[in-house]
Amino acid sequence: MAGVTLALDALQVRHPAAAADAPAALRPLSLRIAAGEQLAVIGPSGAGKTTLLHAIACALRPASGRLLIDGIDPWSLPVRQLQRLRARLFLAPQVPPLPPRQRTVTALLAARLPSMSLWTGLRSLVHPVGAADAHAALERFDLGDKLWTRVDRLSGGERQRVGLARALLAPAGLWLVDEPLSALDPTRSRLAVETLTGSARERGATMLATLHQVDVAIAAFPRIIGLRDGELAFDLPSAAVTRDHLLRLYAQFEHELAGAPPVPHEPERPAARQPTVVVCR
Ligand SMILES: Nc1ncnc2c1ncn2[C@@H]1O[C@H](COP(=O)(O)OP(=O)(O)O)[C@@H](O)[C@H]1O
Ligand SMILES: [Mg+2]
Repeated sequence: MAGVTLALDALQVRHPAAAADAPAALRPLSLRIAAGEQLAVIGPSGAGKTTLLHAIACALRPASGRLLIDGIDPWSLPVRQLQRLRARLFLAPQVPPLPPRQRTVTALLAARLPSMSLWTGLRSLVHPVGAADAHAALERFDLGDKLWTRVDRLSGGERQRVGLARALLAPAGLWLVDEPLSALDPTRSRLAVETLTGSARERGATMLATLHQVDVAIAAFPRIIGLRDGELAFDLPSAAVTRDHLLRLYAQFEHELAGAPPVPHEPERPAARQPTVVVCR
């Protein structure tokens, strides 16, 4: 499955439920992404990172501007063709939508449904088709012993890794991964990122991941996009991202630079909190 190319031309996105006078979640944003590229999207909470992934996944229709996937505007396609295109895009939400009573193997193999006939898909719900592949994908996330475990018996971090392992089974040329490490400790985070970037490279899949662990993003991804208030703050090779870029990107959100979970509605922020030191080249 070849990696997809992406072009965003002055893309603006508004959430349907947002107040009419709220600023667009993505302001005119232009980007070019080549097949097989790997990018990390960073920026403080509310910057528009998740919105960007959802817009590229064709889950949110642009208010203006244009998205091209392999040179095609998905929103100009008839419904059938749009569905076929969506099957080439794999979105891993921050909280994976895994049915609690399902076994891990079934939840994993559901990622293949877009490439299965209706009959094979239904049969796979009873007798999993491709269990060996599901096991191999789980092993790469150090979850080889969970193949037959029910999803509701997994910890939050295990569920998150199962959600990521689905990427390895999906028939997709674009992986959109939203905060893949939010429930993982540092060792598991390193393994998960290495597995994702390594597997995407093996397949030639294009990958965008949002990350609040800035140091992990810079170490593991060759290209970094900084988003703030729905706008592109910078688009740089990771080696060119300086501490200054990061301090500007996270100004007034310095606590998020350390990778601490965002604090959405803090009534009063402590006045002069010292910026956390971040290791970067
Ligand atoms: N479902 C939604 N309805 C209305 N507004 C939303 C919705 N989701 C996100 N937003 C708003 O869009 C902006 C970008 O949010 P989001 O993309 O989730 O940022 P990030 O992922 O960087 O934290 C924020 O102002 C947020 O409040
Ligand atoms: Mg988000």
